[in-house]
Amino acid sequence: MARVIGGITTSHIPAIGNAIANKKFEEPYWKPFFEGYPPVRKWLAEQRPDVAIVFYNDHGLNFFLDKQPTFAVGAAPEYQNSDEGWGLSTIPPFPGIPELSWHIIETLVEKEFDVVTCQEMLVDHGFCVPMQLLWPDYRKSPIRTVPICINTVQHPLPSPSRCFRFGQAVGDAVRSFDEDLKVVVLGTGGLSHQLDGERAGFINKEFDQMCMQKIVEDPEYLTKYSILDIVREAGAQGAELILWLAMRGALSKTVKEIHRNYHIPISNTASGLLLLESAG
Ligand code: DHB
Ligand code: FE
Repeated sequence: MARVIGGITTSHIPAIGNAIANKKFEEPYWKPFFEGYPPVRKWLAEQRPDVAIVFYNDHGLNFFLDKQPTFAVGAAPEYQNSDEGWGLSTIPPFPGIPELSWHIIETLVEKEFDVVTCQEMLVDHGFCVPMQLLWPDYRKSPIRTVPICINTVQHPLPSPSRCFRFGQAVGDAVRSFDEDLKVVVLGTGGLSHQLDGERAGFINKEFDQMCMQKIVEDPEYLTKYSILDIVREAGAQGAELILWLAMRGALSKTVKEIHRNYHIPISNTASGLLLLESAG
């Protein structure tokens, strides 16, 4: 059977994609951010997962405000990136694993999560930046992906509690897939940030650090928040925290924290990196 061996949360801001393209790893602004990643890459090199399921949000590339699914699951043989306005370059496509995607979709619909199925899907910075950070040579590695979009863009957004249960259903789907695969789950984006309006540049370090702690040891605590609570505490785009909750839902009830890094700011955003290993 397939297994969820661990979970990773990571920032996805587009400026990171451009910093990678321009190899800014040693620049003083970028160094403390990039320095968080080698322990996670080392763990990935040791564990050699076969599949990355990526909970992310599409920011207006594959879906726009006229058509915005709450949950959408990729079921394509590969996923090409494109740029919705950040100056990001086109990079080689990410291989998919449609047979696992369809098993996840069937399980989700059985469990009453009515998802949009995407046999063609363009992926934006919310997906590509994390993949590039974690697998810089992804074309040379055997990693295959299932992109899963959750709407954080057009209100009403799904509640933290629903996203946690959605992640649990994805975890159940993996554990009932009849192939011996090692799966890692990613929650991208966050932490506190607001990109527009009167509070543009808003960051709440105390709330972020509380969220990181609770994601590790008591994620159910965060499911008591409403979307409005999160927007108030973490900024309009801080709602991306629901992607972290979906990731955490797919893991075992207790997890072992292997690595953590918190760095502010990168661009306008607080960056939180966590590596969690399934424990039983
Ligand atoms: C930034 C953060 C995001 O989550 C995003 O999707 C785009 C930009 C930023 O801080 O620049
Ligand atoms: Fe974002």
